[in-house]
Amino acid sequence: MKQSNPIAEPVGQNLIKLISNLCFSVFVFGVLIFTVIAITYKSPDPWLESAPAMTKFFTQSENATFKNDNSILRTGEDLQLSQIAPASAITESSIEKVEEKIASSLELESGCREMTTSPVNCSDPRVLVAVEKFNLRAFKSIAFLEYQTPVSGSRPDECDVAWRFRNKKEKSWRKYRDFRRFKIGIGENCTFKVVHPGGWHSGINARRPKNRYSATTGGATPKISAPIRDDEINDTIPSLGSDVNFRKGRYLYYSRGGDYCKGVNHYLWSILCGLGEARYLNRTFVLDLSMCLSATYSSTNKDEEGKDFRFYFDFEHLKEVASIVEEGEFIRDWKKWNRAHKKKVPVQKVPTYKVSPMQLKRDKSTIIWRQFDAPEPENYWYRVCEGQAERYIQRPWHALWKSKRLMNIVSEISGRMDWDFDAVHVVRGEKAQNKELWPNLDSDTSPDSLVAKLKGMIQPGRNLYVATNEPFYNYFDKLRSYYKVHLLEDYKELWGNTSEWYNETRLLNDGKPVEFDGFMRVAVDTEVLYRAKVRVETFNNLTRDCKDGINTC
Ligand SMILES: *[C@@H]1O[C@H](CO)[C@@H](O)[C@H](O)[C@H]1NC(C)=O
Ligand SMILES: *[C@@H]1O[C@H](CO)[C@@H](O)[C@H](O)[C@H]1NC(C)=O
Ligand SMILES: *[C@@H]1O[C@H](CO)[C@@H](O)[C@H](O)[C@H]1NC(C)=O
Ligand SMILES: *[C@@H]1O[C@H](CO)[C@@H](O)[C@H](O)[C@H]1NC(C)=O
Ligand SMILES: *[C@@H]1O[C@H](CO)[C@@H](O)[C@H](O)[C@H]1NC(C)=O
Ligand SMILES: *[C@@H]1O[C@H](CO)[C@@H](O)[C@H](O)[C@H]1NC(C)=O
Ligand SMILES: *[C@@H]1O[C@H](CO)[C@@H](O)[C@H](O)[C@H]1NC(C)=O
Ligand SMILES: *[C@@H]1O[C@H](CO)[C@@H](O)[C@H](O)[C@H]1NC(C)=O
Repeated sequence: MKQSNPIAEPVGQNLIKLISNLCFSVFVFGVLIFTVIAITYKSPDPWLESAPAMTKFFTQSENATFKNDNSILRTGEDLQLSQIAPASAITESSIEKVEEKIASSLELESGCREMTTSPVNCSDPRVLVAVEKFNLRAFKSIAFLEYQTPVSGSRPDECDVAWRFRNKKEKSWRKYRDFRRFKIGIGENCTFKVVHPGGWHSGINARRPKNRYSATTGGATPKISAPIRDDEINDTIPSLGSDVNFRKGRYLYYSRGGDYCKGVNHYLWSILCGLGEARYLNRTFVLDLSMCLSATYSSTNKDEEGKDFRFYFDFEHLKEVASIVEEGEFIRDWKKWNRAHKKKVPVQKVPTYKVSPMQLKRDKSTIIWRQFDAPEPENYWYRVCEGQAERYIQRPWHALWKSKRLMNIVSEISGRMDWDFDAVHVVRGEKAQNKELWPNLDSDTSPDSLVAKLKGMIQPGRNLYVATNEPFYNYFDKLRSYYKVHLLEDYKELWGNTSEWYNETRLLNDGKPVEFDGFMRVAVDTEVLYRAKVRVETFNNLTRDCKDGINTC
């Protein structure tokens, strides 16, 4: 290692340094222009449209973005990327086809003979048609995917109906479940109609029994229920199987670098670089599932280690779309192989990010091991993707979605407001205190100012969800005279110790309870915000201060 002492350096050397810095700047500028030209002339690709914007978003004002904008968290499902194969949604015309079939089969019998609401026959297909039609009219932002046959509710004229849906605003095509209780009446022309719809998750009789997990209890005591899990989530850690498989693989292994314990945007920018390089090199990325929660998100105001990746991100989805192996499994198999065979697994150690992905393209070693031992900021993963590499490495944004367990909470909150709400994003926190960079933000987001501004944008009486990093719960009380105000804190039983989320995350955490931390709050706040009908942003809508500080917009 070369050591340089700036104080002892003679003037001449400084001059050389200055000149070389200048040359470097010219070079960087040249590369930039070249990149812009290259991008302009490439064929249309969603990546090339989004990547420069994202690069700008993360790097242009690195300090402001990484250190202060912690109140929002965008992941793959929020970006305008090419969509994954859509599931077919139920539409007016598909319902009409079913209706025609029913009508023609009824003609064979004699009309409406069997129609009664006491008790209503919930498995009569006409009941489902009535519910489907009702839902389509009532929830315009929801795509309904598949219904189960309705079952009886608690009273003779009630039916419980379960279905899967997705929100049209979500780009992930992930499915969620709802089950509601409907009061059914007789309509015109041999049809049923919905007299009264129940609320979110009210149709508990239609809630599917969770067979997959309760089956393991032995079957003798079915009444003592196993913890209720979302059996649609499969984020078990895959194993490589035999050691022959291990040797056949090609891996890209990143040692822990300076990114560890940094903010979440920094983490995303770094991990996506690693995944992007792995894809470029056609290698399996070795993923460390153990994360460190930055102090900015922890309730103790200290960095907290040992957080599971799966608390925050959708590991199942990542497994499906990217080639990854969990670090623990990988190290175990690596050691096992070395022990079992005389010859060691070929490893290429890469000590610095300055060795570019392009230089590694032809390397045939089983493992390419990037070590990030240099002092900060030379040890950030994302530096691998800087400069020239930016043209070759595409960050696979579509691979990282938020944890479905968190998204279930998002659906629950939105569902309880019946998907009919407006939202305001109020950024306060550090930015509001920093009068130098954001001179007006504090006063523009004061309670009185919020009332005055929102009155012009959101109709009185509406459900108003406030996504915010303002810790004081009663801060928004003035808005309550005009709107039905909802804050994340109002839904705390969704992650409290009686919740499904609590049970499920505990299973990932060796049975220890998991705290609903600041990062999770931001994730849920962001997604609820994106589901609102009218969305008011702090920057642009509430204040003229710039998002990244004075004179940046
Ligand atoms: C970021 O902050 C550090 C000190 O905190 C400063 O040295 C550096 O120049 C800043 N970088 C940018 C891009 O503002
Ligand atoms: C309810 O309707 C289904 C489908 O039309 C029919 O098969 C079933 O026999 C009916 N049940 C009763 C009790 O009428
Ligand atoms: C009932 O049938 C009549 C005659 O076929 C039709 O005019 C009327 O619009 C139908 N009503 C509904 C609600 O479909
Ligand atoms: C979960 O996914 C893994 C692959 O990652 C698969 O091997 C396993 O069978 C799945 N488990 C269930 C219960 O579907
Ligand atoms: C990627 O690697 C796999 C196996 O390691 C190989 O079958 C495939 O041909 C490679 N693809 C490219 C584009 O190099
Ligand atoms: C849940 O938390 C409450 C208050 O935090 C506590 O009183 C209660 O005993 C807890 N219940 C369980 C099952 O842990
Ligand atoms: C959570 O687990 C406890 C104990 O295993 C169980 O009694 C409770 O019903 C579960 N709650 C939910 C919402 O799944
Ligand atoms: C917020 O500002 C943006 C950009 O100026 C504008 O397009 C949008 O309509 C505004 N939103 C509301 C609710 O007024």
